[in-house]
Amino acid sequence: MARRATERPHTRRDLPAWPTDGLSYGGDYNPEQWSPEVWREDVRLMREAGVNIVTLGVFSWGLLEPREGEYDWAWFDEIIALLHDAGIAVDLATPTAAPPSWLLHAHPEVLPVDAHGEREVPGGRLGWCASSPVFREHALRITTALAERYGDHPAVRLWHVSNELGGGNGRCYCDVSAARFREWLRAEYGTVEAINAAWGTAFWGHTFADIEHIEPPRGDKHKANPGMFLAFERFSSDELLEHYLAEAAVLRERSAVPVTTNFMVGSGGHVVDYSDWAGHVDVVANDHYTIVDDRVREQDLAFAADRMRGLTRAREPWLLMEHSTGAPSWQQRNRAKAPGEILRNALAHVARGSDGAMFFQWRASTAGTEQFHSAMLPHAGTESRVWREVVELGSALRRLAGIAGAPVEPAKVALLVDEESAWALQQGLKPHRALRYAHETRLWHRVFWQRQVLVDVLPVDADLDGYDLVVLPTLLVVSDAQAARVDAFVRGGGTVLATYLSGIVDETSRVRGGGYPGAFRDLLGVTTEEFRPLQADETVLLSDGGRVTDWSEDTNLHGAEAVVTYADGDSAGRAAVTRNAVGDGAAWYVSAQLPLDSATRVADRLISELGLPRAVEAGTGIEAVRRNTADGDVLFLINHSDADETVAVSGRSLLDDATFDGAALVPAGRVVVLRESAAE
Ligand code: GLA
Repeated sequence: MARRATERPHTRRDLPAWPTDGLSYGGDYNPEQWSPEVWREDVRLMREAGVNIVTLGVFSWGLLEPREGEYDWAWFDEIIALLHDAGIAVDLATPTAAPPSWLLHAHPEVLPVDAHGEREVPGGRLGWCASSPVFREHALRITTALAERYGDHPAVRLWHVSNELGGGNGRCYCDVSAARFREWLRAEYGTVEAINAAWGTAFWGHTFADIEHIEPPRGDKHKANPGMFLAFERFSSDELLEHYLAEAAVLRERSAVPVTTNFMVGSGGHVVDYSDWAGHVDVVANDHYTIVDDRVREQDLAFAADRMRGLTRAREPWLLMEHSTGAPSWQQRNRAKAPGEILRNALAHVARGSDGAMFFQWRASTAGTEQFHSAMLPHAGTESRVWREVVELGSALRRLAGIAGAPVEPAKVALLVDEESAWALQQGLKPHRALRYAHETRLWHRVFWQRQVLVDVLPVDADLDGYDLVVLPTLLVVSDAQAARVDAFVRGGGTVLATYLSGIVDETSRVRGGGYPGAFRDLLGVTTEEFRPLQADETVLLSDGGRVTDWSEDTNLHGAEAVVTYADGDSAGRAAVTRNAVGDGAAWYVSAQLPLDSATRVADRLISELGLPRAVEAGTGIEAVRRNTADGDVLFLINHSDADETVAVSGRSLLDDATFDGAALVPAGRVVVLRESAAE
């Protein structure tokens, strides 16, 4: 049976020194697009904005190694010296995200192949297959050369392996990948018999006579065997991780500087399993971009930040490596940020544990695919609102330097996320193919976020000790060991809330026998005899007045009590939300896709029954989080609404020295950060 990727041993080294003093501030810097005169202006303006670190070299391979084995370091030496003289640290990228033209010309076979057999053309992003030995050899050569030249340069404070690994080359279906997949299967399962048994290949007569006959799930992913599909997703994540580890090993052999790579956790897809990767980076780092049609943009910032903190097991600071000062250019209609939003968004990440705020990119490009992407220094130059807000943010981060390294207050709620469940949910001939894993995870995070209750968004194998409530949104793929840990948590007095489709399949994507909800049936004290997916125009009324969309179930109670019932439709009278008392603990089941108001009512009851701590008591537009510094608590109050709000707190504002005695006004769209004190 395949082992879960998350069971891999972590190799995190002791957290090394943070790359900057205080909080990190800066962005991607691409000086190769500009003349040396502009570099000097850049460095002057970086100092004006308070920039103390830039990410250098992401797209520089072809200029650093213009021909195979021939290097041109002169321009790089000069720019690194300029930055260093100005006191600006370098987050040095291995340039492997952008293979040079000579490499792709000589070895077009390194380009990834999609599920339909089409080889990618040069000119895109991350145009290489993670399994290619040819690419690996060239990538490690430039990485070695870079590490040998700059590995102990005092300006270099962080290594940035490649860029957004998987963003463009997340899956490759070429023959080299196929051969590696079979090797991976051999290591995971041992024999072809074990594979056939795990995947249930007897269905549609797909039994394999030999592992050599297995190909990646090419073509329509929905027709692939679900067990094979999930195995290929895991393999692809592991294969990219192997590449990261190979580059990281080269760097670590030659340099004591910490190593990271930028993750991509936002509203978008689920490319790799970061819960497996996070143990291999010295600093957990993320790129976060807001999505225009995401109705709860502000909460998505918090969700991603809580996830990053969760990837450090809520033990360490992490770093917002990229976000934007305004409109990106890769969406259909890109949205500029509202006045004040740059500070608000950056501090939302800092409040939740990021020891800095960085952007793509420093200076707006005039040419190239992303010539209209926003930047810290926009096309409009310094006579612009964006520039003034960039300077304002730099000054705010300097004033907040004292919180660097301070942990975020401990959370009492854990929300478990699982890439494998996301992959499995969104593949295959399912009862409802339009269900989105991110919908459910965001919904159950939002109901606590809007009440100022902190949630750690954790990998499924995380330690649950110390939490009062564990939320499992659509945790479709569950191993016996994971189910046992959830069970033990509840029997030890904890409360769990699982939502529809949780526990339904095992780690090979096989439906668990004995009835739904599979792994959690006994714990929840409820069974589902039939799924009732809803049509696009169909809703079901609930006894609490809410209306269910997309998903409902025909449930039967086996010890649990009904909290909310279906009030019309074919499931009328059956339980939609249940609670099962288990010793001092409780197990809740939500069998439907609840609307926000119904989910909020469930959360409010849990907040009051379990006494879950709210950072402050304020309206739903106020985000509030504390970081615990050695000199006392620092409270972030972020007003996402368009109305001023007064919050009952006392202390001194760290952004402008105002003092609050019993009440702090948080103007609409603004942020107040205060060192708390008792009211006089
Ligand atoms: C990603 C990349 C950057 C840039 C931005 C644009 O995060 O890492 O190089 O392309 O997107 O939004």
